[in-house]
Amino acid sequence: MSVAPDRRVFVALDTDDLGHAESLAQKLEGAVGGFKIGLQLFGRHGIDAVRTISAYGEIFLDLKLHDIPNTVAGAAGSIAALGVRWFTVHASGGVRMMRRAVEAAGDAARAAGKQAPGALAVTVLTSHDEDELAAIGLSGPCRQAVVRLAGLAREAQTAGLVCSALEIAAVREAFPGATLMVPGIRPASGTVGNDDQSRVATPADAVRAGADLLVVGRPITRADDPRAAARAVADELS
Ligand code: C5P
Repeated sequence: MSVAPDRRVFVALDTDDLGHAESLAQKLEGAVGGFKIGLQLFGRHGIDAVRTISAYGEIFLDLKLHDIPNTVAGAAGSIAALGVRWFTVHASGGVRMMRRAVEAAGDAARAAGKQAPGALAVTVLTSHDEDELAAIGLSGPCRQAVVRLAGLAREAQTAGLVCSALEIAAVREAFPGATLMVPGIRPASGTVGNDDQSRVATPADAVRAGADLLVVGRPITRADDPRAAARAVADELS
């Protein structure tokens, strides 16, 4: 997937304050590809958040759907009708669930006269370690589980995957045509106070490794000048 440097970045609006999210989006309009809305903002403001932030860029709605295929299909249809660009499903929901999500999103987008959103599959949450994976009953090790789940996403014909920069090579092999959305990005310029991310990559390293799109949160949202921080990320990419 060929994307201009400043269009690769989706800024994670991890807040429950829609006014703050909109003010950030306003500052960043045109300097980034879009915005990630997750459960925090969506849980508080629902579709108002999607509608408000859509005015400033594409929306990546990260709700990580995981339920029976019929329910996920319904949710994917509702999400597609909002006109978002990307949304997430858990690969561990299985091929049938993911496939129904992809189909329902396409159908609903067509009916609403909108572009179909791309379904991105989440494989193994990066918060899981080997012990947790074993406790859940997912056969590991983590890396093997990631590759296995990426293969299921490919079979379900999702648009791609969310993965860490360290997993790119492995998932590329399991799902060659996937669009890869990669969080855990830390620009070479600037640091985040009290950072809880440990397995991070710079924007340039992630793209060199094969990332198509990057999720960047605090390095941009907590910068004194978010727009300048977003520009710095784009500069690192070009
Ligand atoms: O502020 P920061 O750049 O760390 O934000 C990254 C965003 O990406 C957050 O919304 C976080 O929940 C999300 N994310 C992540 N690591 C993953 C998956 C998602 O950091 N493996």
